[in-house]
Amino acid sequence: MESGIPGRIALVTGASAGLGRRFAGILAQAGARVALAARRTDRLAALEQEIRAAGGEAIALALDVADVGAVRAAAAEVEQRLGPIAILVNNAGVSRQQRLEEVEEADWDAVLDTNLKGAFFLAQAAARQMIRHGIAGRIVNIGSIAGERPLGRQGPYSISKAALAHMTHCMAREWGRHGINTNAIAPGYIVTEMAEDFLTTEAGHRMVQSLPRQRMGEPRDLDALLLLLCSDGPARFINGSVMVADDGLLSA
Ligand SMILES: NC(=O)c1ccc[n+]([C@@H]2O[C@H](COP(=O)([O-])OP(=O)(O)OC[C@H]3O[C@@H](n4cnc5c(N)ncnc54)[C@H](OP(=O)(O)O)[C@@H]3O)[C@@H](O)[C@H]2O)c1
Repeated sequence: MESGIPGRIALVTGASAGLGRRFAGILAQAGARVALAARRTDRLAALEQEIRAAGGEAIALALDVADVGAVRAAAAEVEQRLGPIAILVNNAGVSRQQRLEEVEEADWDAVLDTNLKGAFFLAQAAARQMIRHGIAGRIVNIGSIAGERPLGRQGPYSISKAALAHMTHCMAREWGRHGINTNAIAPGYIVTEMAEDFLTTEAGHRMVQSLPRQRMGEPRDLDALLLLLCSDGPARFINGSVMVADDGLLSA
């Protein structure tokens, strides 16, 4: 089945590490022309080289998604250097381990501005381009099981991911008429830098043992879902879905 991905312009945030790095590589492999966005530009430059060496096309963009002005400028830069955005993967995210009573305003802002505000305004900038150019775009928001069931000591993170899921429904409802499909992936525990420190702790070991199959996922476990949601024909009818990929955790 044709994916419709080859030649499409994709923007992936948080492409400097973890899931975002993997998503960018997979989209490039599928033939997308990929803009890689994050704050650590040295890492982006390395990934850009890697993608080019494998015959793909990529550009690196310095971006702090919590800065709405920078978000708008980055979307405009992608349009100017590559063309209008057809695929957006809103993946950049941060978390803080804190009890609710310890959360300061700065903690709240750091998590909500990155995970929610940045994702909203980048999707808006991308959707404006899609609408203007009549592109049947694909927006994939990276949520979390924390958006479905709160995680302990991660209140603002859980709240941001629950709101991101609802944002996905709002976007699907309003932008569907323009041919844009907006969906979310809500992963369970996947081994990346975000989880690495925690996994070396006693609590981390206990957590893995408590998982339904006593194992964490790997970034590649999300490849198929990502490609499906970024595709054209195969995902035509999928709009407003929050797809959980958690190895059965929420069902346990
Ligand atoms: N790993 C898991 O188990 C898991 C589970 C559920 C959901 N998720 C979600 O998946 C996404 C990726 O997580 P991950 O595990 O890959 O985390 P990670 O390894 O810590 O990577 C996070 C990425 O987000 C970027 N980022 C953070 N703040 C940013 C900002 N202000 N502006 C631009 N980029 C920013 C980082 O890049 P720079 O630091 O270079 O800017 C980095 O590339 C997140 O949204 C996370 O909530 C992860």
